[in-house]
Amino acid sequence: MEKAFPTVLSVLCMSVSVEPWGRASSGESVDLFTICDEITVKVSNYGGTITSIRAPDRGGVLNEVVLGFDAIDGYLGSPFYHGATIGRYANRIGGGRITVDGEEFLLPLNDGVNHLHGGFHGLDKRVWSPEIIDDTLQLSYLSRDGEEGYSGNLKVSVTFRVIGDRLEIDYQATTDKPTVVNLTNHAYFNLGGGETILDHLLWLDADSYSPVDESLIPIGAHQNVRDTPFDFTAPTRVGARINDPDNQLDLGNGYDHNFVLNQIGNPQIILTEPSSGRVLEISTNMPGVQLYTGNFLDGSDVGRDEPMGFRSGLCLETQYFPDSPNKPDYPSTLLRPGEKYIEKTVYRFTVTN
Ligand code: BGC
Repeated sequence: MEKAFPTVLSVLCMSVSVEPWGRASSGESVDLFTICDEITVKVSNYGGTITSIRAPDRGGVLNEVVLGFDAIDGYLGSPFYHGATIGRYANRIGGGRITVDGEEFLLPLNDGVNHLHGGFHGLDKRVWSPEIIDDTLQLSYLSRDGEEGYSGNLKVSVTFRVIGDRLEIDYQATTDKPTVVNLTNHAYFNLGGGETILDHLLWLDADSYSPVDESLIPIGAHQNVRDTPFDFTAPTRVGARINDPDNQLDLGNGYDHNFVLNQIGNPQIILTEPSSGRVLEISTNMPGVQLYTGNFLDGSDVGRDEPMGFRSGLCLETQYFPDSPNKPDYPSTLLRPGEKYIEKTVYRFTVTN
């Protein structure tokens, strides 16, 4: 009798299940995968997109903790990269110019004067090949030489696995010509379902961040966060200083900046939503995280329940630093034939009282 409950649970919650989900703009059919344990995560092979994460609050009630749509149409029409896998190069490349081994490549300018999130048709808009391997969903995509201006045939695979209260995302890539790679996920978190994320508390193990120019390209040198609105080295309300008079906040219309992770301690990022008690801990082996407080969300996307308004979700995009290919002092994002790009980010959902 005592054993009956876990057995029933495991029948209800198969580790990975699949359902048809519609068609991408290309006409290709796509699926939606549900991966579950203590949390339930839905991922589509359209864009490697996380459409839903349901996690318990302090009373054990499961609810949505990311912005998203139930149907694929919302993703096809949105410019906001909801939950998508981003590449080949997450974040911005200044002027869309990179030089690899002395050869210059011009990447499409899809963000004013810059290249953003892999271009007009980045990995977020591609249909990936899915494979369920035991309790893991593996999505693979071959980005051909020249796609969105990048060199080399890049074989990318991203795996999604849920173990207990953790979602683990593993990124791997190989190339047949030297190229640059920087992959991330663009989920917008809102742990409490409130109208904005301003009351979430954020802790970042980051003593410095990357100030930007007016086109949001890092100016180069990092700046110490001490005595600035960018100091999250103690848990702080996201909204506490977001409207302070500060040139950097003005440029981003809020936070839209790379933080340099100290790389000590694990996790390096903790987001807490006091009313629900939900806590998200993020650990990564990437050197940075983009804190983006949904400053461009304008209510034009209507998600599961309601319009996704200004600052209704925030992204914590683990990443190599923006514009690294043009910043020799930043950790390198160059990938050569014979090398393997291997990165991992773990999201753990717990509660506090
Ligand atoms: C960037 C923002 C950009 C947004 C697009 C974020 O990763 O930092 O500047 O507008 O993606 O949704």
